[in-house]
This record gives sequence, structure tokens and C-alpha cells, in this order.
Amino acid sequence: MCGIVGYVGAKSAQDVVIEGLRRLEYRGYDSAGIALVCDGALAADKRAGKLANLESAIAEHPLPSSTIGIGHTRWATHGAPNDVNAHPHLGAQRRVALVHNGIIENYAELRRELENSGAELLSETDTEIAAQLLEGELASGNGLTAAMTAVCRRLEGAFTLVAVDAEDPDRVVAARRNSPLVVGLGEGENFLGSDVAAFIEHTRNALELGQDQVVTITRDGVEISDFDGNPAQGKEYHVDWDLAAAEKDGHDWFMRKEIFEQPESVAAALLGRHTERGQLMLDEVRIDDEALRDIDRIIVVGCGTAAYAGQVAKYAIEHWTRIPVEVELAHEFRYRDPILTRNTLVVAISQSGETADTLMAIRHARAQRAKVLAICNTNGATIPRESDAVIYTHAGPEIGVASTKGFLTQMVACYLLGLYLAQLRGTKFGDEIAAVVRDLDRIPAQVQQVLDGAQQVYDLAQELLDAKVVLFLGRHAGYPVAMEGALKLKELAYIHAEGFAAGELKHGPIALIEPGLPVFCVVPPRGRDQLHDKMVSAIQEIRARGARTIVLAEAGDTTVADVADELIELPQVPVLLQPLVATVPLQLFACELATLMGHDVDQPRNLAKSVTVE
Ligand code: F6R
Repeated sequence: MCGIVGYVGAKSAQDVVIEGLRRLEYRGYDSAGIALVCDGALAADKRAGKLANLESAIAEHPLPSSTIGIGHTRWATHGAPNDVNAHPHLGAQRRVALVHNGIIENYAELRRELENSGAELLSETDTEIAAQLLEGELASGNGLTAAMTAVCRRLEGAFTLVAVDAEDPDRVVAARRNSPLVVGLGEGENFLGSDVAAFIEHTRNALELGQDQVVTITRDGVEISDFDGNPAQGKEYHVDWDLAAAEKDGHDWFMRKEIFEQPESVAAALLGRHTERGQLMLDEVRIDDEALRDIDRIIVVGCGTAAYAGQVAKYAIEHWTRIPVEVELAHEFRYRDPILTRNTLVVAISQSGETADTLMAIRHARAQRAKVLAICNTNGATIPRESDAVIYTHAGPEIGVASTKGFLTQMVACYLLGLYLAQLRGTKFGDEIAAVVRDLDRIPAQVQQVLDGAQQVYDLAQELLDAKVVLFLGRHAGYPVAMEGALKLKELAYIHAEGFAAGELKHGPIALIEPGLPVFCVVPPRGRDQLHDKMVSAIQEIRARGARTIVLAEAGDTTVADVADELIELPQVPVLLQPLVATVPLQLFACELATLMGHDVDQPRNLAKSVTVE
């Protein structure tokens, strides 16, 4: 949510900043802007709409050359997405340029204060307030770093701020509270970014910042302090993915590339986490065994797709461990005053590790002494940092706004956690666990099998191009798959899509069925006969009412032939693992349908990756 870049070095700051913004554009694309320091003055441009608009504007009216600058790509919170509200915001004297990600909660009070003292504010944003305050601090004689710490002490809410001072061509100063910011460490140059994608082309050495810190980058150094100016340390790390991972690699969309990467992503999520004999080795779970044995309840929290991964986890973890598992949307969890004890394990699932709703949920849980385990794809992100333990999903960077490989690997991490708890607590025998591990090890090849059949799904998308409504049905672990399929379609194709538990049909939703309505039906494997047969009956019922049934069932399931208008065959996997293969055709379908409809698949309207405001 909002992408931020800062640079100081010897290269063209415009090039570095624009390239960084291109890589961060998935975080928000309501507007984009840049500010450079040049000969004691600021040169800036900002435009509503995608980065391309800013690039055309700069091509028409070139900015002077400079080696220090900042940039921003916006997901609008305060104020409409227009040129005026776009970042950077300049102070009244045009001395300071500032970009911001987050929400300043005491904005109204600060705005009133500034207006009462005669300030004129041009935009509706909370950011301009911070720019004006910063300029005020500079005018009173503070340097940019001291000015930033002074301003941060006055702000409430969540923010990453990055600023330059026209009178100081040597430093970029930034601050963070509850919002992401990393430093890229170069030779004779340094970088700031909302995430490492902003500078991965230039350096893979990064510095993680703590909460409530201010960082100053110059060409030769980095200094960190807290908001009171006391020196602080960052944590250096090496980014283990390279530029290629942040490129489309011949695909039309990042999303399609990420769907096709899933065999490797799932394999990476499993790698090194079990012995050859199928014994789980989750060394990263640093909660001691005794405490894990005492867990009497698990609450999984997350948002959107991550919450659906949690719903799949519920079926598996309860089945293997007999520990009651609840799944809750992170934003609901926090505000309902949940009952938590030191024996509650809260599992927070987040691809980005920065989702504000999930972050607030884990803070709430920890304040009540529950243990928190994060399942996350982003090294060093805030959620894993603030958790007692973390299982990284190792999917590599997910850039398409709609989560795909993030989802599959989140489910894998949940399965591993469930099996690990079962092993530790003895609720499953070693050979039963080893059998599931073997099934998991087969998944990458089976996902590949599904991907090999992509053309069938693409043809279907072509046939359903005019669909106005699409429904998805599932049961058991197939129910979250149905909801995920519907979410992908809403996000990308902007058509009304709904996922239902098939058993719920007769309690209302069946009224929606009308002749020709496409309904995707996820059929459980035949091993679970009752479940399977009930699903087939549900399909018969909707087909009798004219629905066009698109049935996803395991290969060789002859019972579905008569009820399927279209049959998508899935590899044979146990019911609990079926979401890993059944989700893939639904991802492909949404991606293809949106492409055929002419939508921007990687940057769907109104959305942003990484929702860092509540
Ligand atoms: C849907 C999607 C979102 C995210 C949700 C949580 O395709 O991507 O629903 O799953 O915003 O994001 P993370 O996992 O980063 O916390």
C-alpha cells in the first residue's frame, strides 16, 4: 500500500527512483511522483494515475539532473487520487519534499493547528501536514534528521516518511512506525524502499529497521536513531532472490508467472522441513516443546486469501492434532475482545507480513500473553518480527496483486505446522505423518500436471467471457477453495462471484441458480465417500435447475461425468491436500478471463498489495 523510494549516490536519481517505483507499483497505482534536489532547489513532478503518466510528463518536461531524490506510488487514503493529492508534498517554502505511506491519525488536530497559524494547505492529504511541520522544524534551525525526529514525536498512527531538504544535497531522511521501510546498502550510494524490490537491481544487501526509528542515508553511510534521537542499530541481511524473480520472465502478467511458478514454490516451502523418513523438522518454530504441548486452542488470523488458507488449515490441524482451531478475519478478531490465554496459539498468516489488520491482531494477542506464530513470505517483515516464531513460506517475491503462490505455500506451511504439532503431541503415529509428508512431496509434480492442462481452462474463459455472475461450490477443504476462486474472479474480472459451502445451497443460495449460470464445483476425492457423494448430489440439484456446471474432480472419477457440463480433472490427492491442486485451475481461469476482458491483471482497480493501513 503505497510504494516509497529514496536514493542518494552518483547515478541519475531520476532513473533510480523511476525504476524503483516501477518495481513497487504493485503497492498502489492511484498516482506517482518524484522530487529531486538540484542546485539548492527542489524539482518535482507528480501525476494522477499510473506511473506511465508521470513518465510521459517527465519526458515532455524533463527534470534537471540530480543524484539525490525520492519517489512515491500511491494507494489513496486521505483525498481523491488526483494530481494535487499525489506525493511528494512540498512545504510552503518549497524547501522540503516528503512522501508518506500510512495514515496520520491526529491529522485533523494538526491541520487545525497549522491553519490557525496561517498555513495554507493545498491538498486534502495528511501528508502535507507532515511536510509543513518538517519545514517548520528546519526553519527553526534543526537539520533534516533532527527535524524528522521532532515531527515524528508529534504524529500518531502508522507512517513511513521519506524526505529531502533543498538545502542539503547529501542526505535523505526517513522514519517508520507500523509501516514498512528497508534500507539498501550500496557502494558510494544508498537506497530506501518500501521493500527490497525498490533497489534489488542495485544491491542485495539490506538493512532492516525497527519500530519508531529514523534513518539518515548519505552516499557513504547510514545512521539510525529512535524518535528521541538516541542511536539505534539496524539488522543487516542479504536478499536471497535476484532481479529475475522480480521480472515477468516472458509472461504477460506477474500473476500468470507466479501461478506457473507454483510447483517450485511449493517445493521450496517443503525443502529442508522433514527428514527422508518423513519426520518434521521445523527448527524455526522457537516456541519450546513444553509450551506447544500445552496449547489447548489455536486461532488462525489473516485477511482475504490468507484467511482462506487458515480455513484449510483448520480442517487439517484439527484432524491431525485434535486441538480446536478457530479461524478469524484479523480485523474482526481484534475488536471482539477474544478470550486468549497463555495456552492459546495464534497463527497469523500474511504473505507480505505487513498487513496492518493482522499486525494489530497479533499485538492484541501477545498483549494477552497468547503465543503467536507467523506464517509469512517476506523475510524480516513486521509481522514475523513481532511474533514468537515464524514459518517462512519461501515462495519468492509475489508481485501480482492477487495472491497465488502465496496462498499455496501458506497452506503448505499450515500443513507442516499441523503435522509438527501432531508429531510433538503424539496424536498421529510416525508412519501416518510420514505418509502425509510423502503426499506433500508429490504435490509440486501434481500442480505441474494441472498447469499442463491450462489450455482447457483458457478455452473455458473464452466461452464464459459474457458471464455476469459466477458461483463456486465446495465442501470441507473444498469450501475455502470455492471462496478463493470467487475472490480471484471478483478482484481481477470485476464480476460478481460467490463461493458457497455446497451443503448450504438448499438453505438459500440455490435461489440464485438460473439457466446457463456458470457454477464451478470442487468435488472431494472419492476416498471420502459420504463427502464426495453429497457433493455430487448438490451438483445434480443445481444442474436440474439449469446451471452450467464446471466440475473439478479427481481423474478417474466416473461418477461426475453425468453431472458435468465441463470436467476439469485433478490429480489424485488426499482430501485435506486437495486445495493445493484444486485452486490452480481457478487461478488460471480468473487470470485468463480478466486478460480477455482487457483488465490489468497485475494492478486491479482499487486494490493494492500489502494493505498497510487498517
Ligand atoms: C487476494 C489477496 C488479499 C490478501 C490479503 C492479505 O488475492 O491477495 O486478499 O491475501 O490482503 O494479505 P497478506 O497475506 O499480505 O497479509
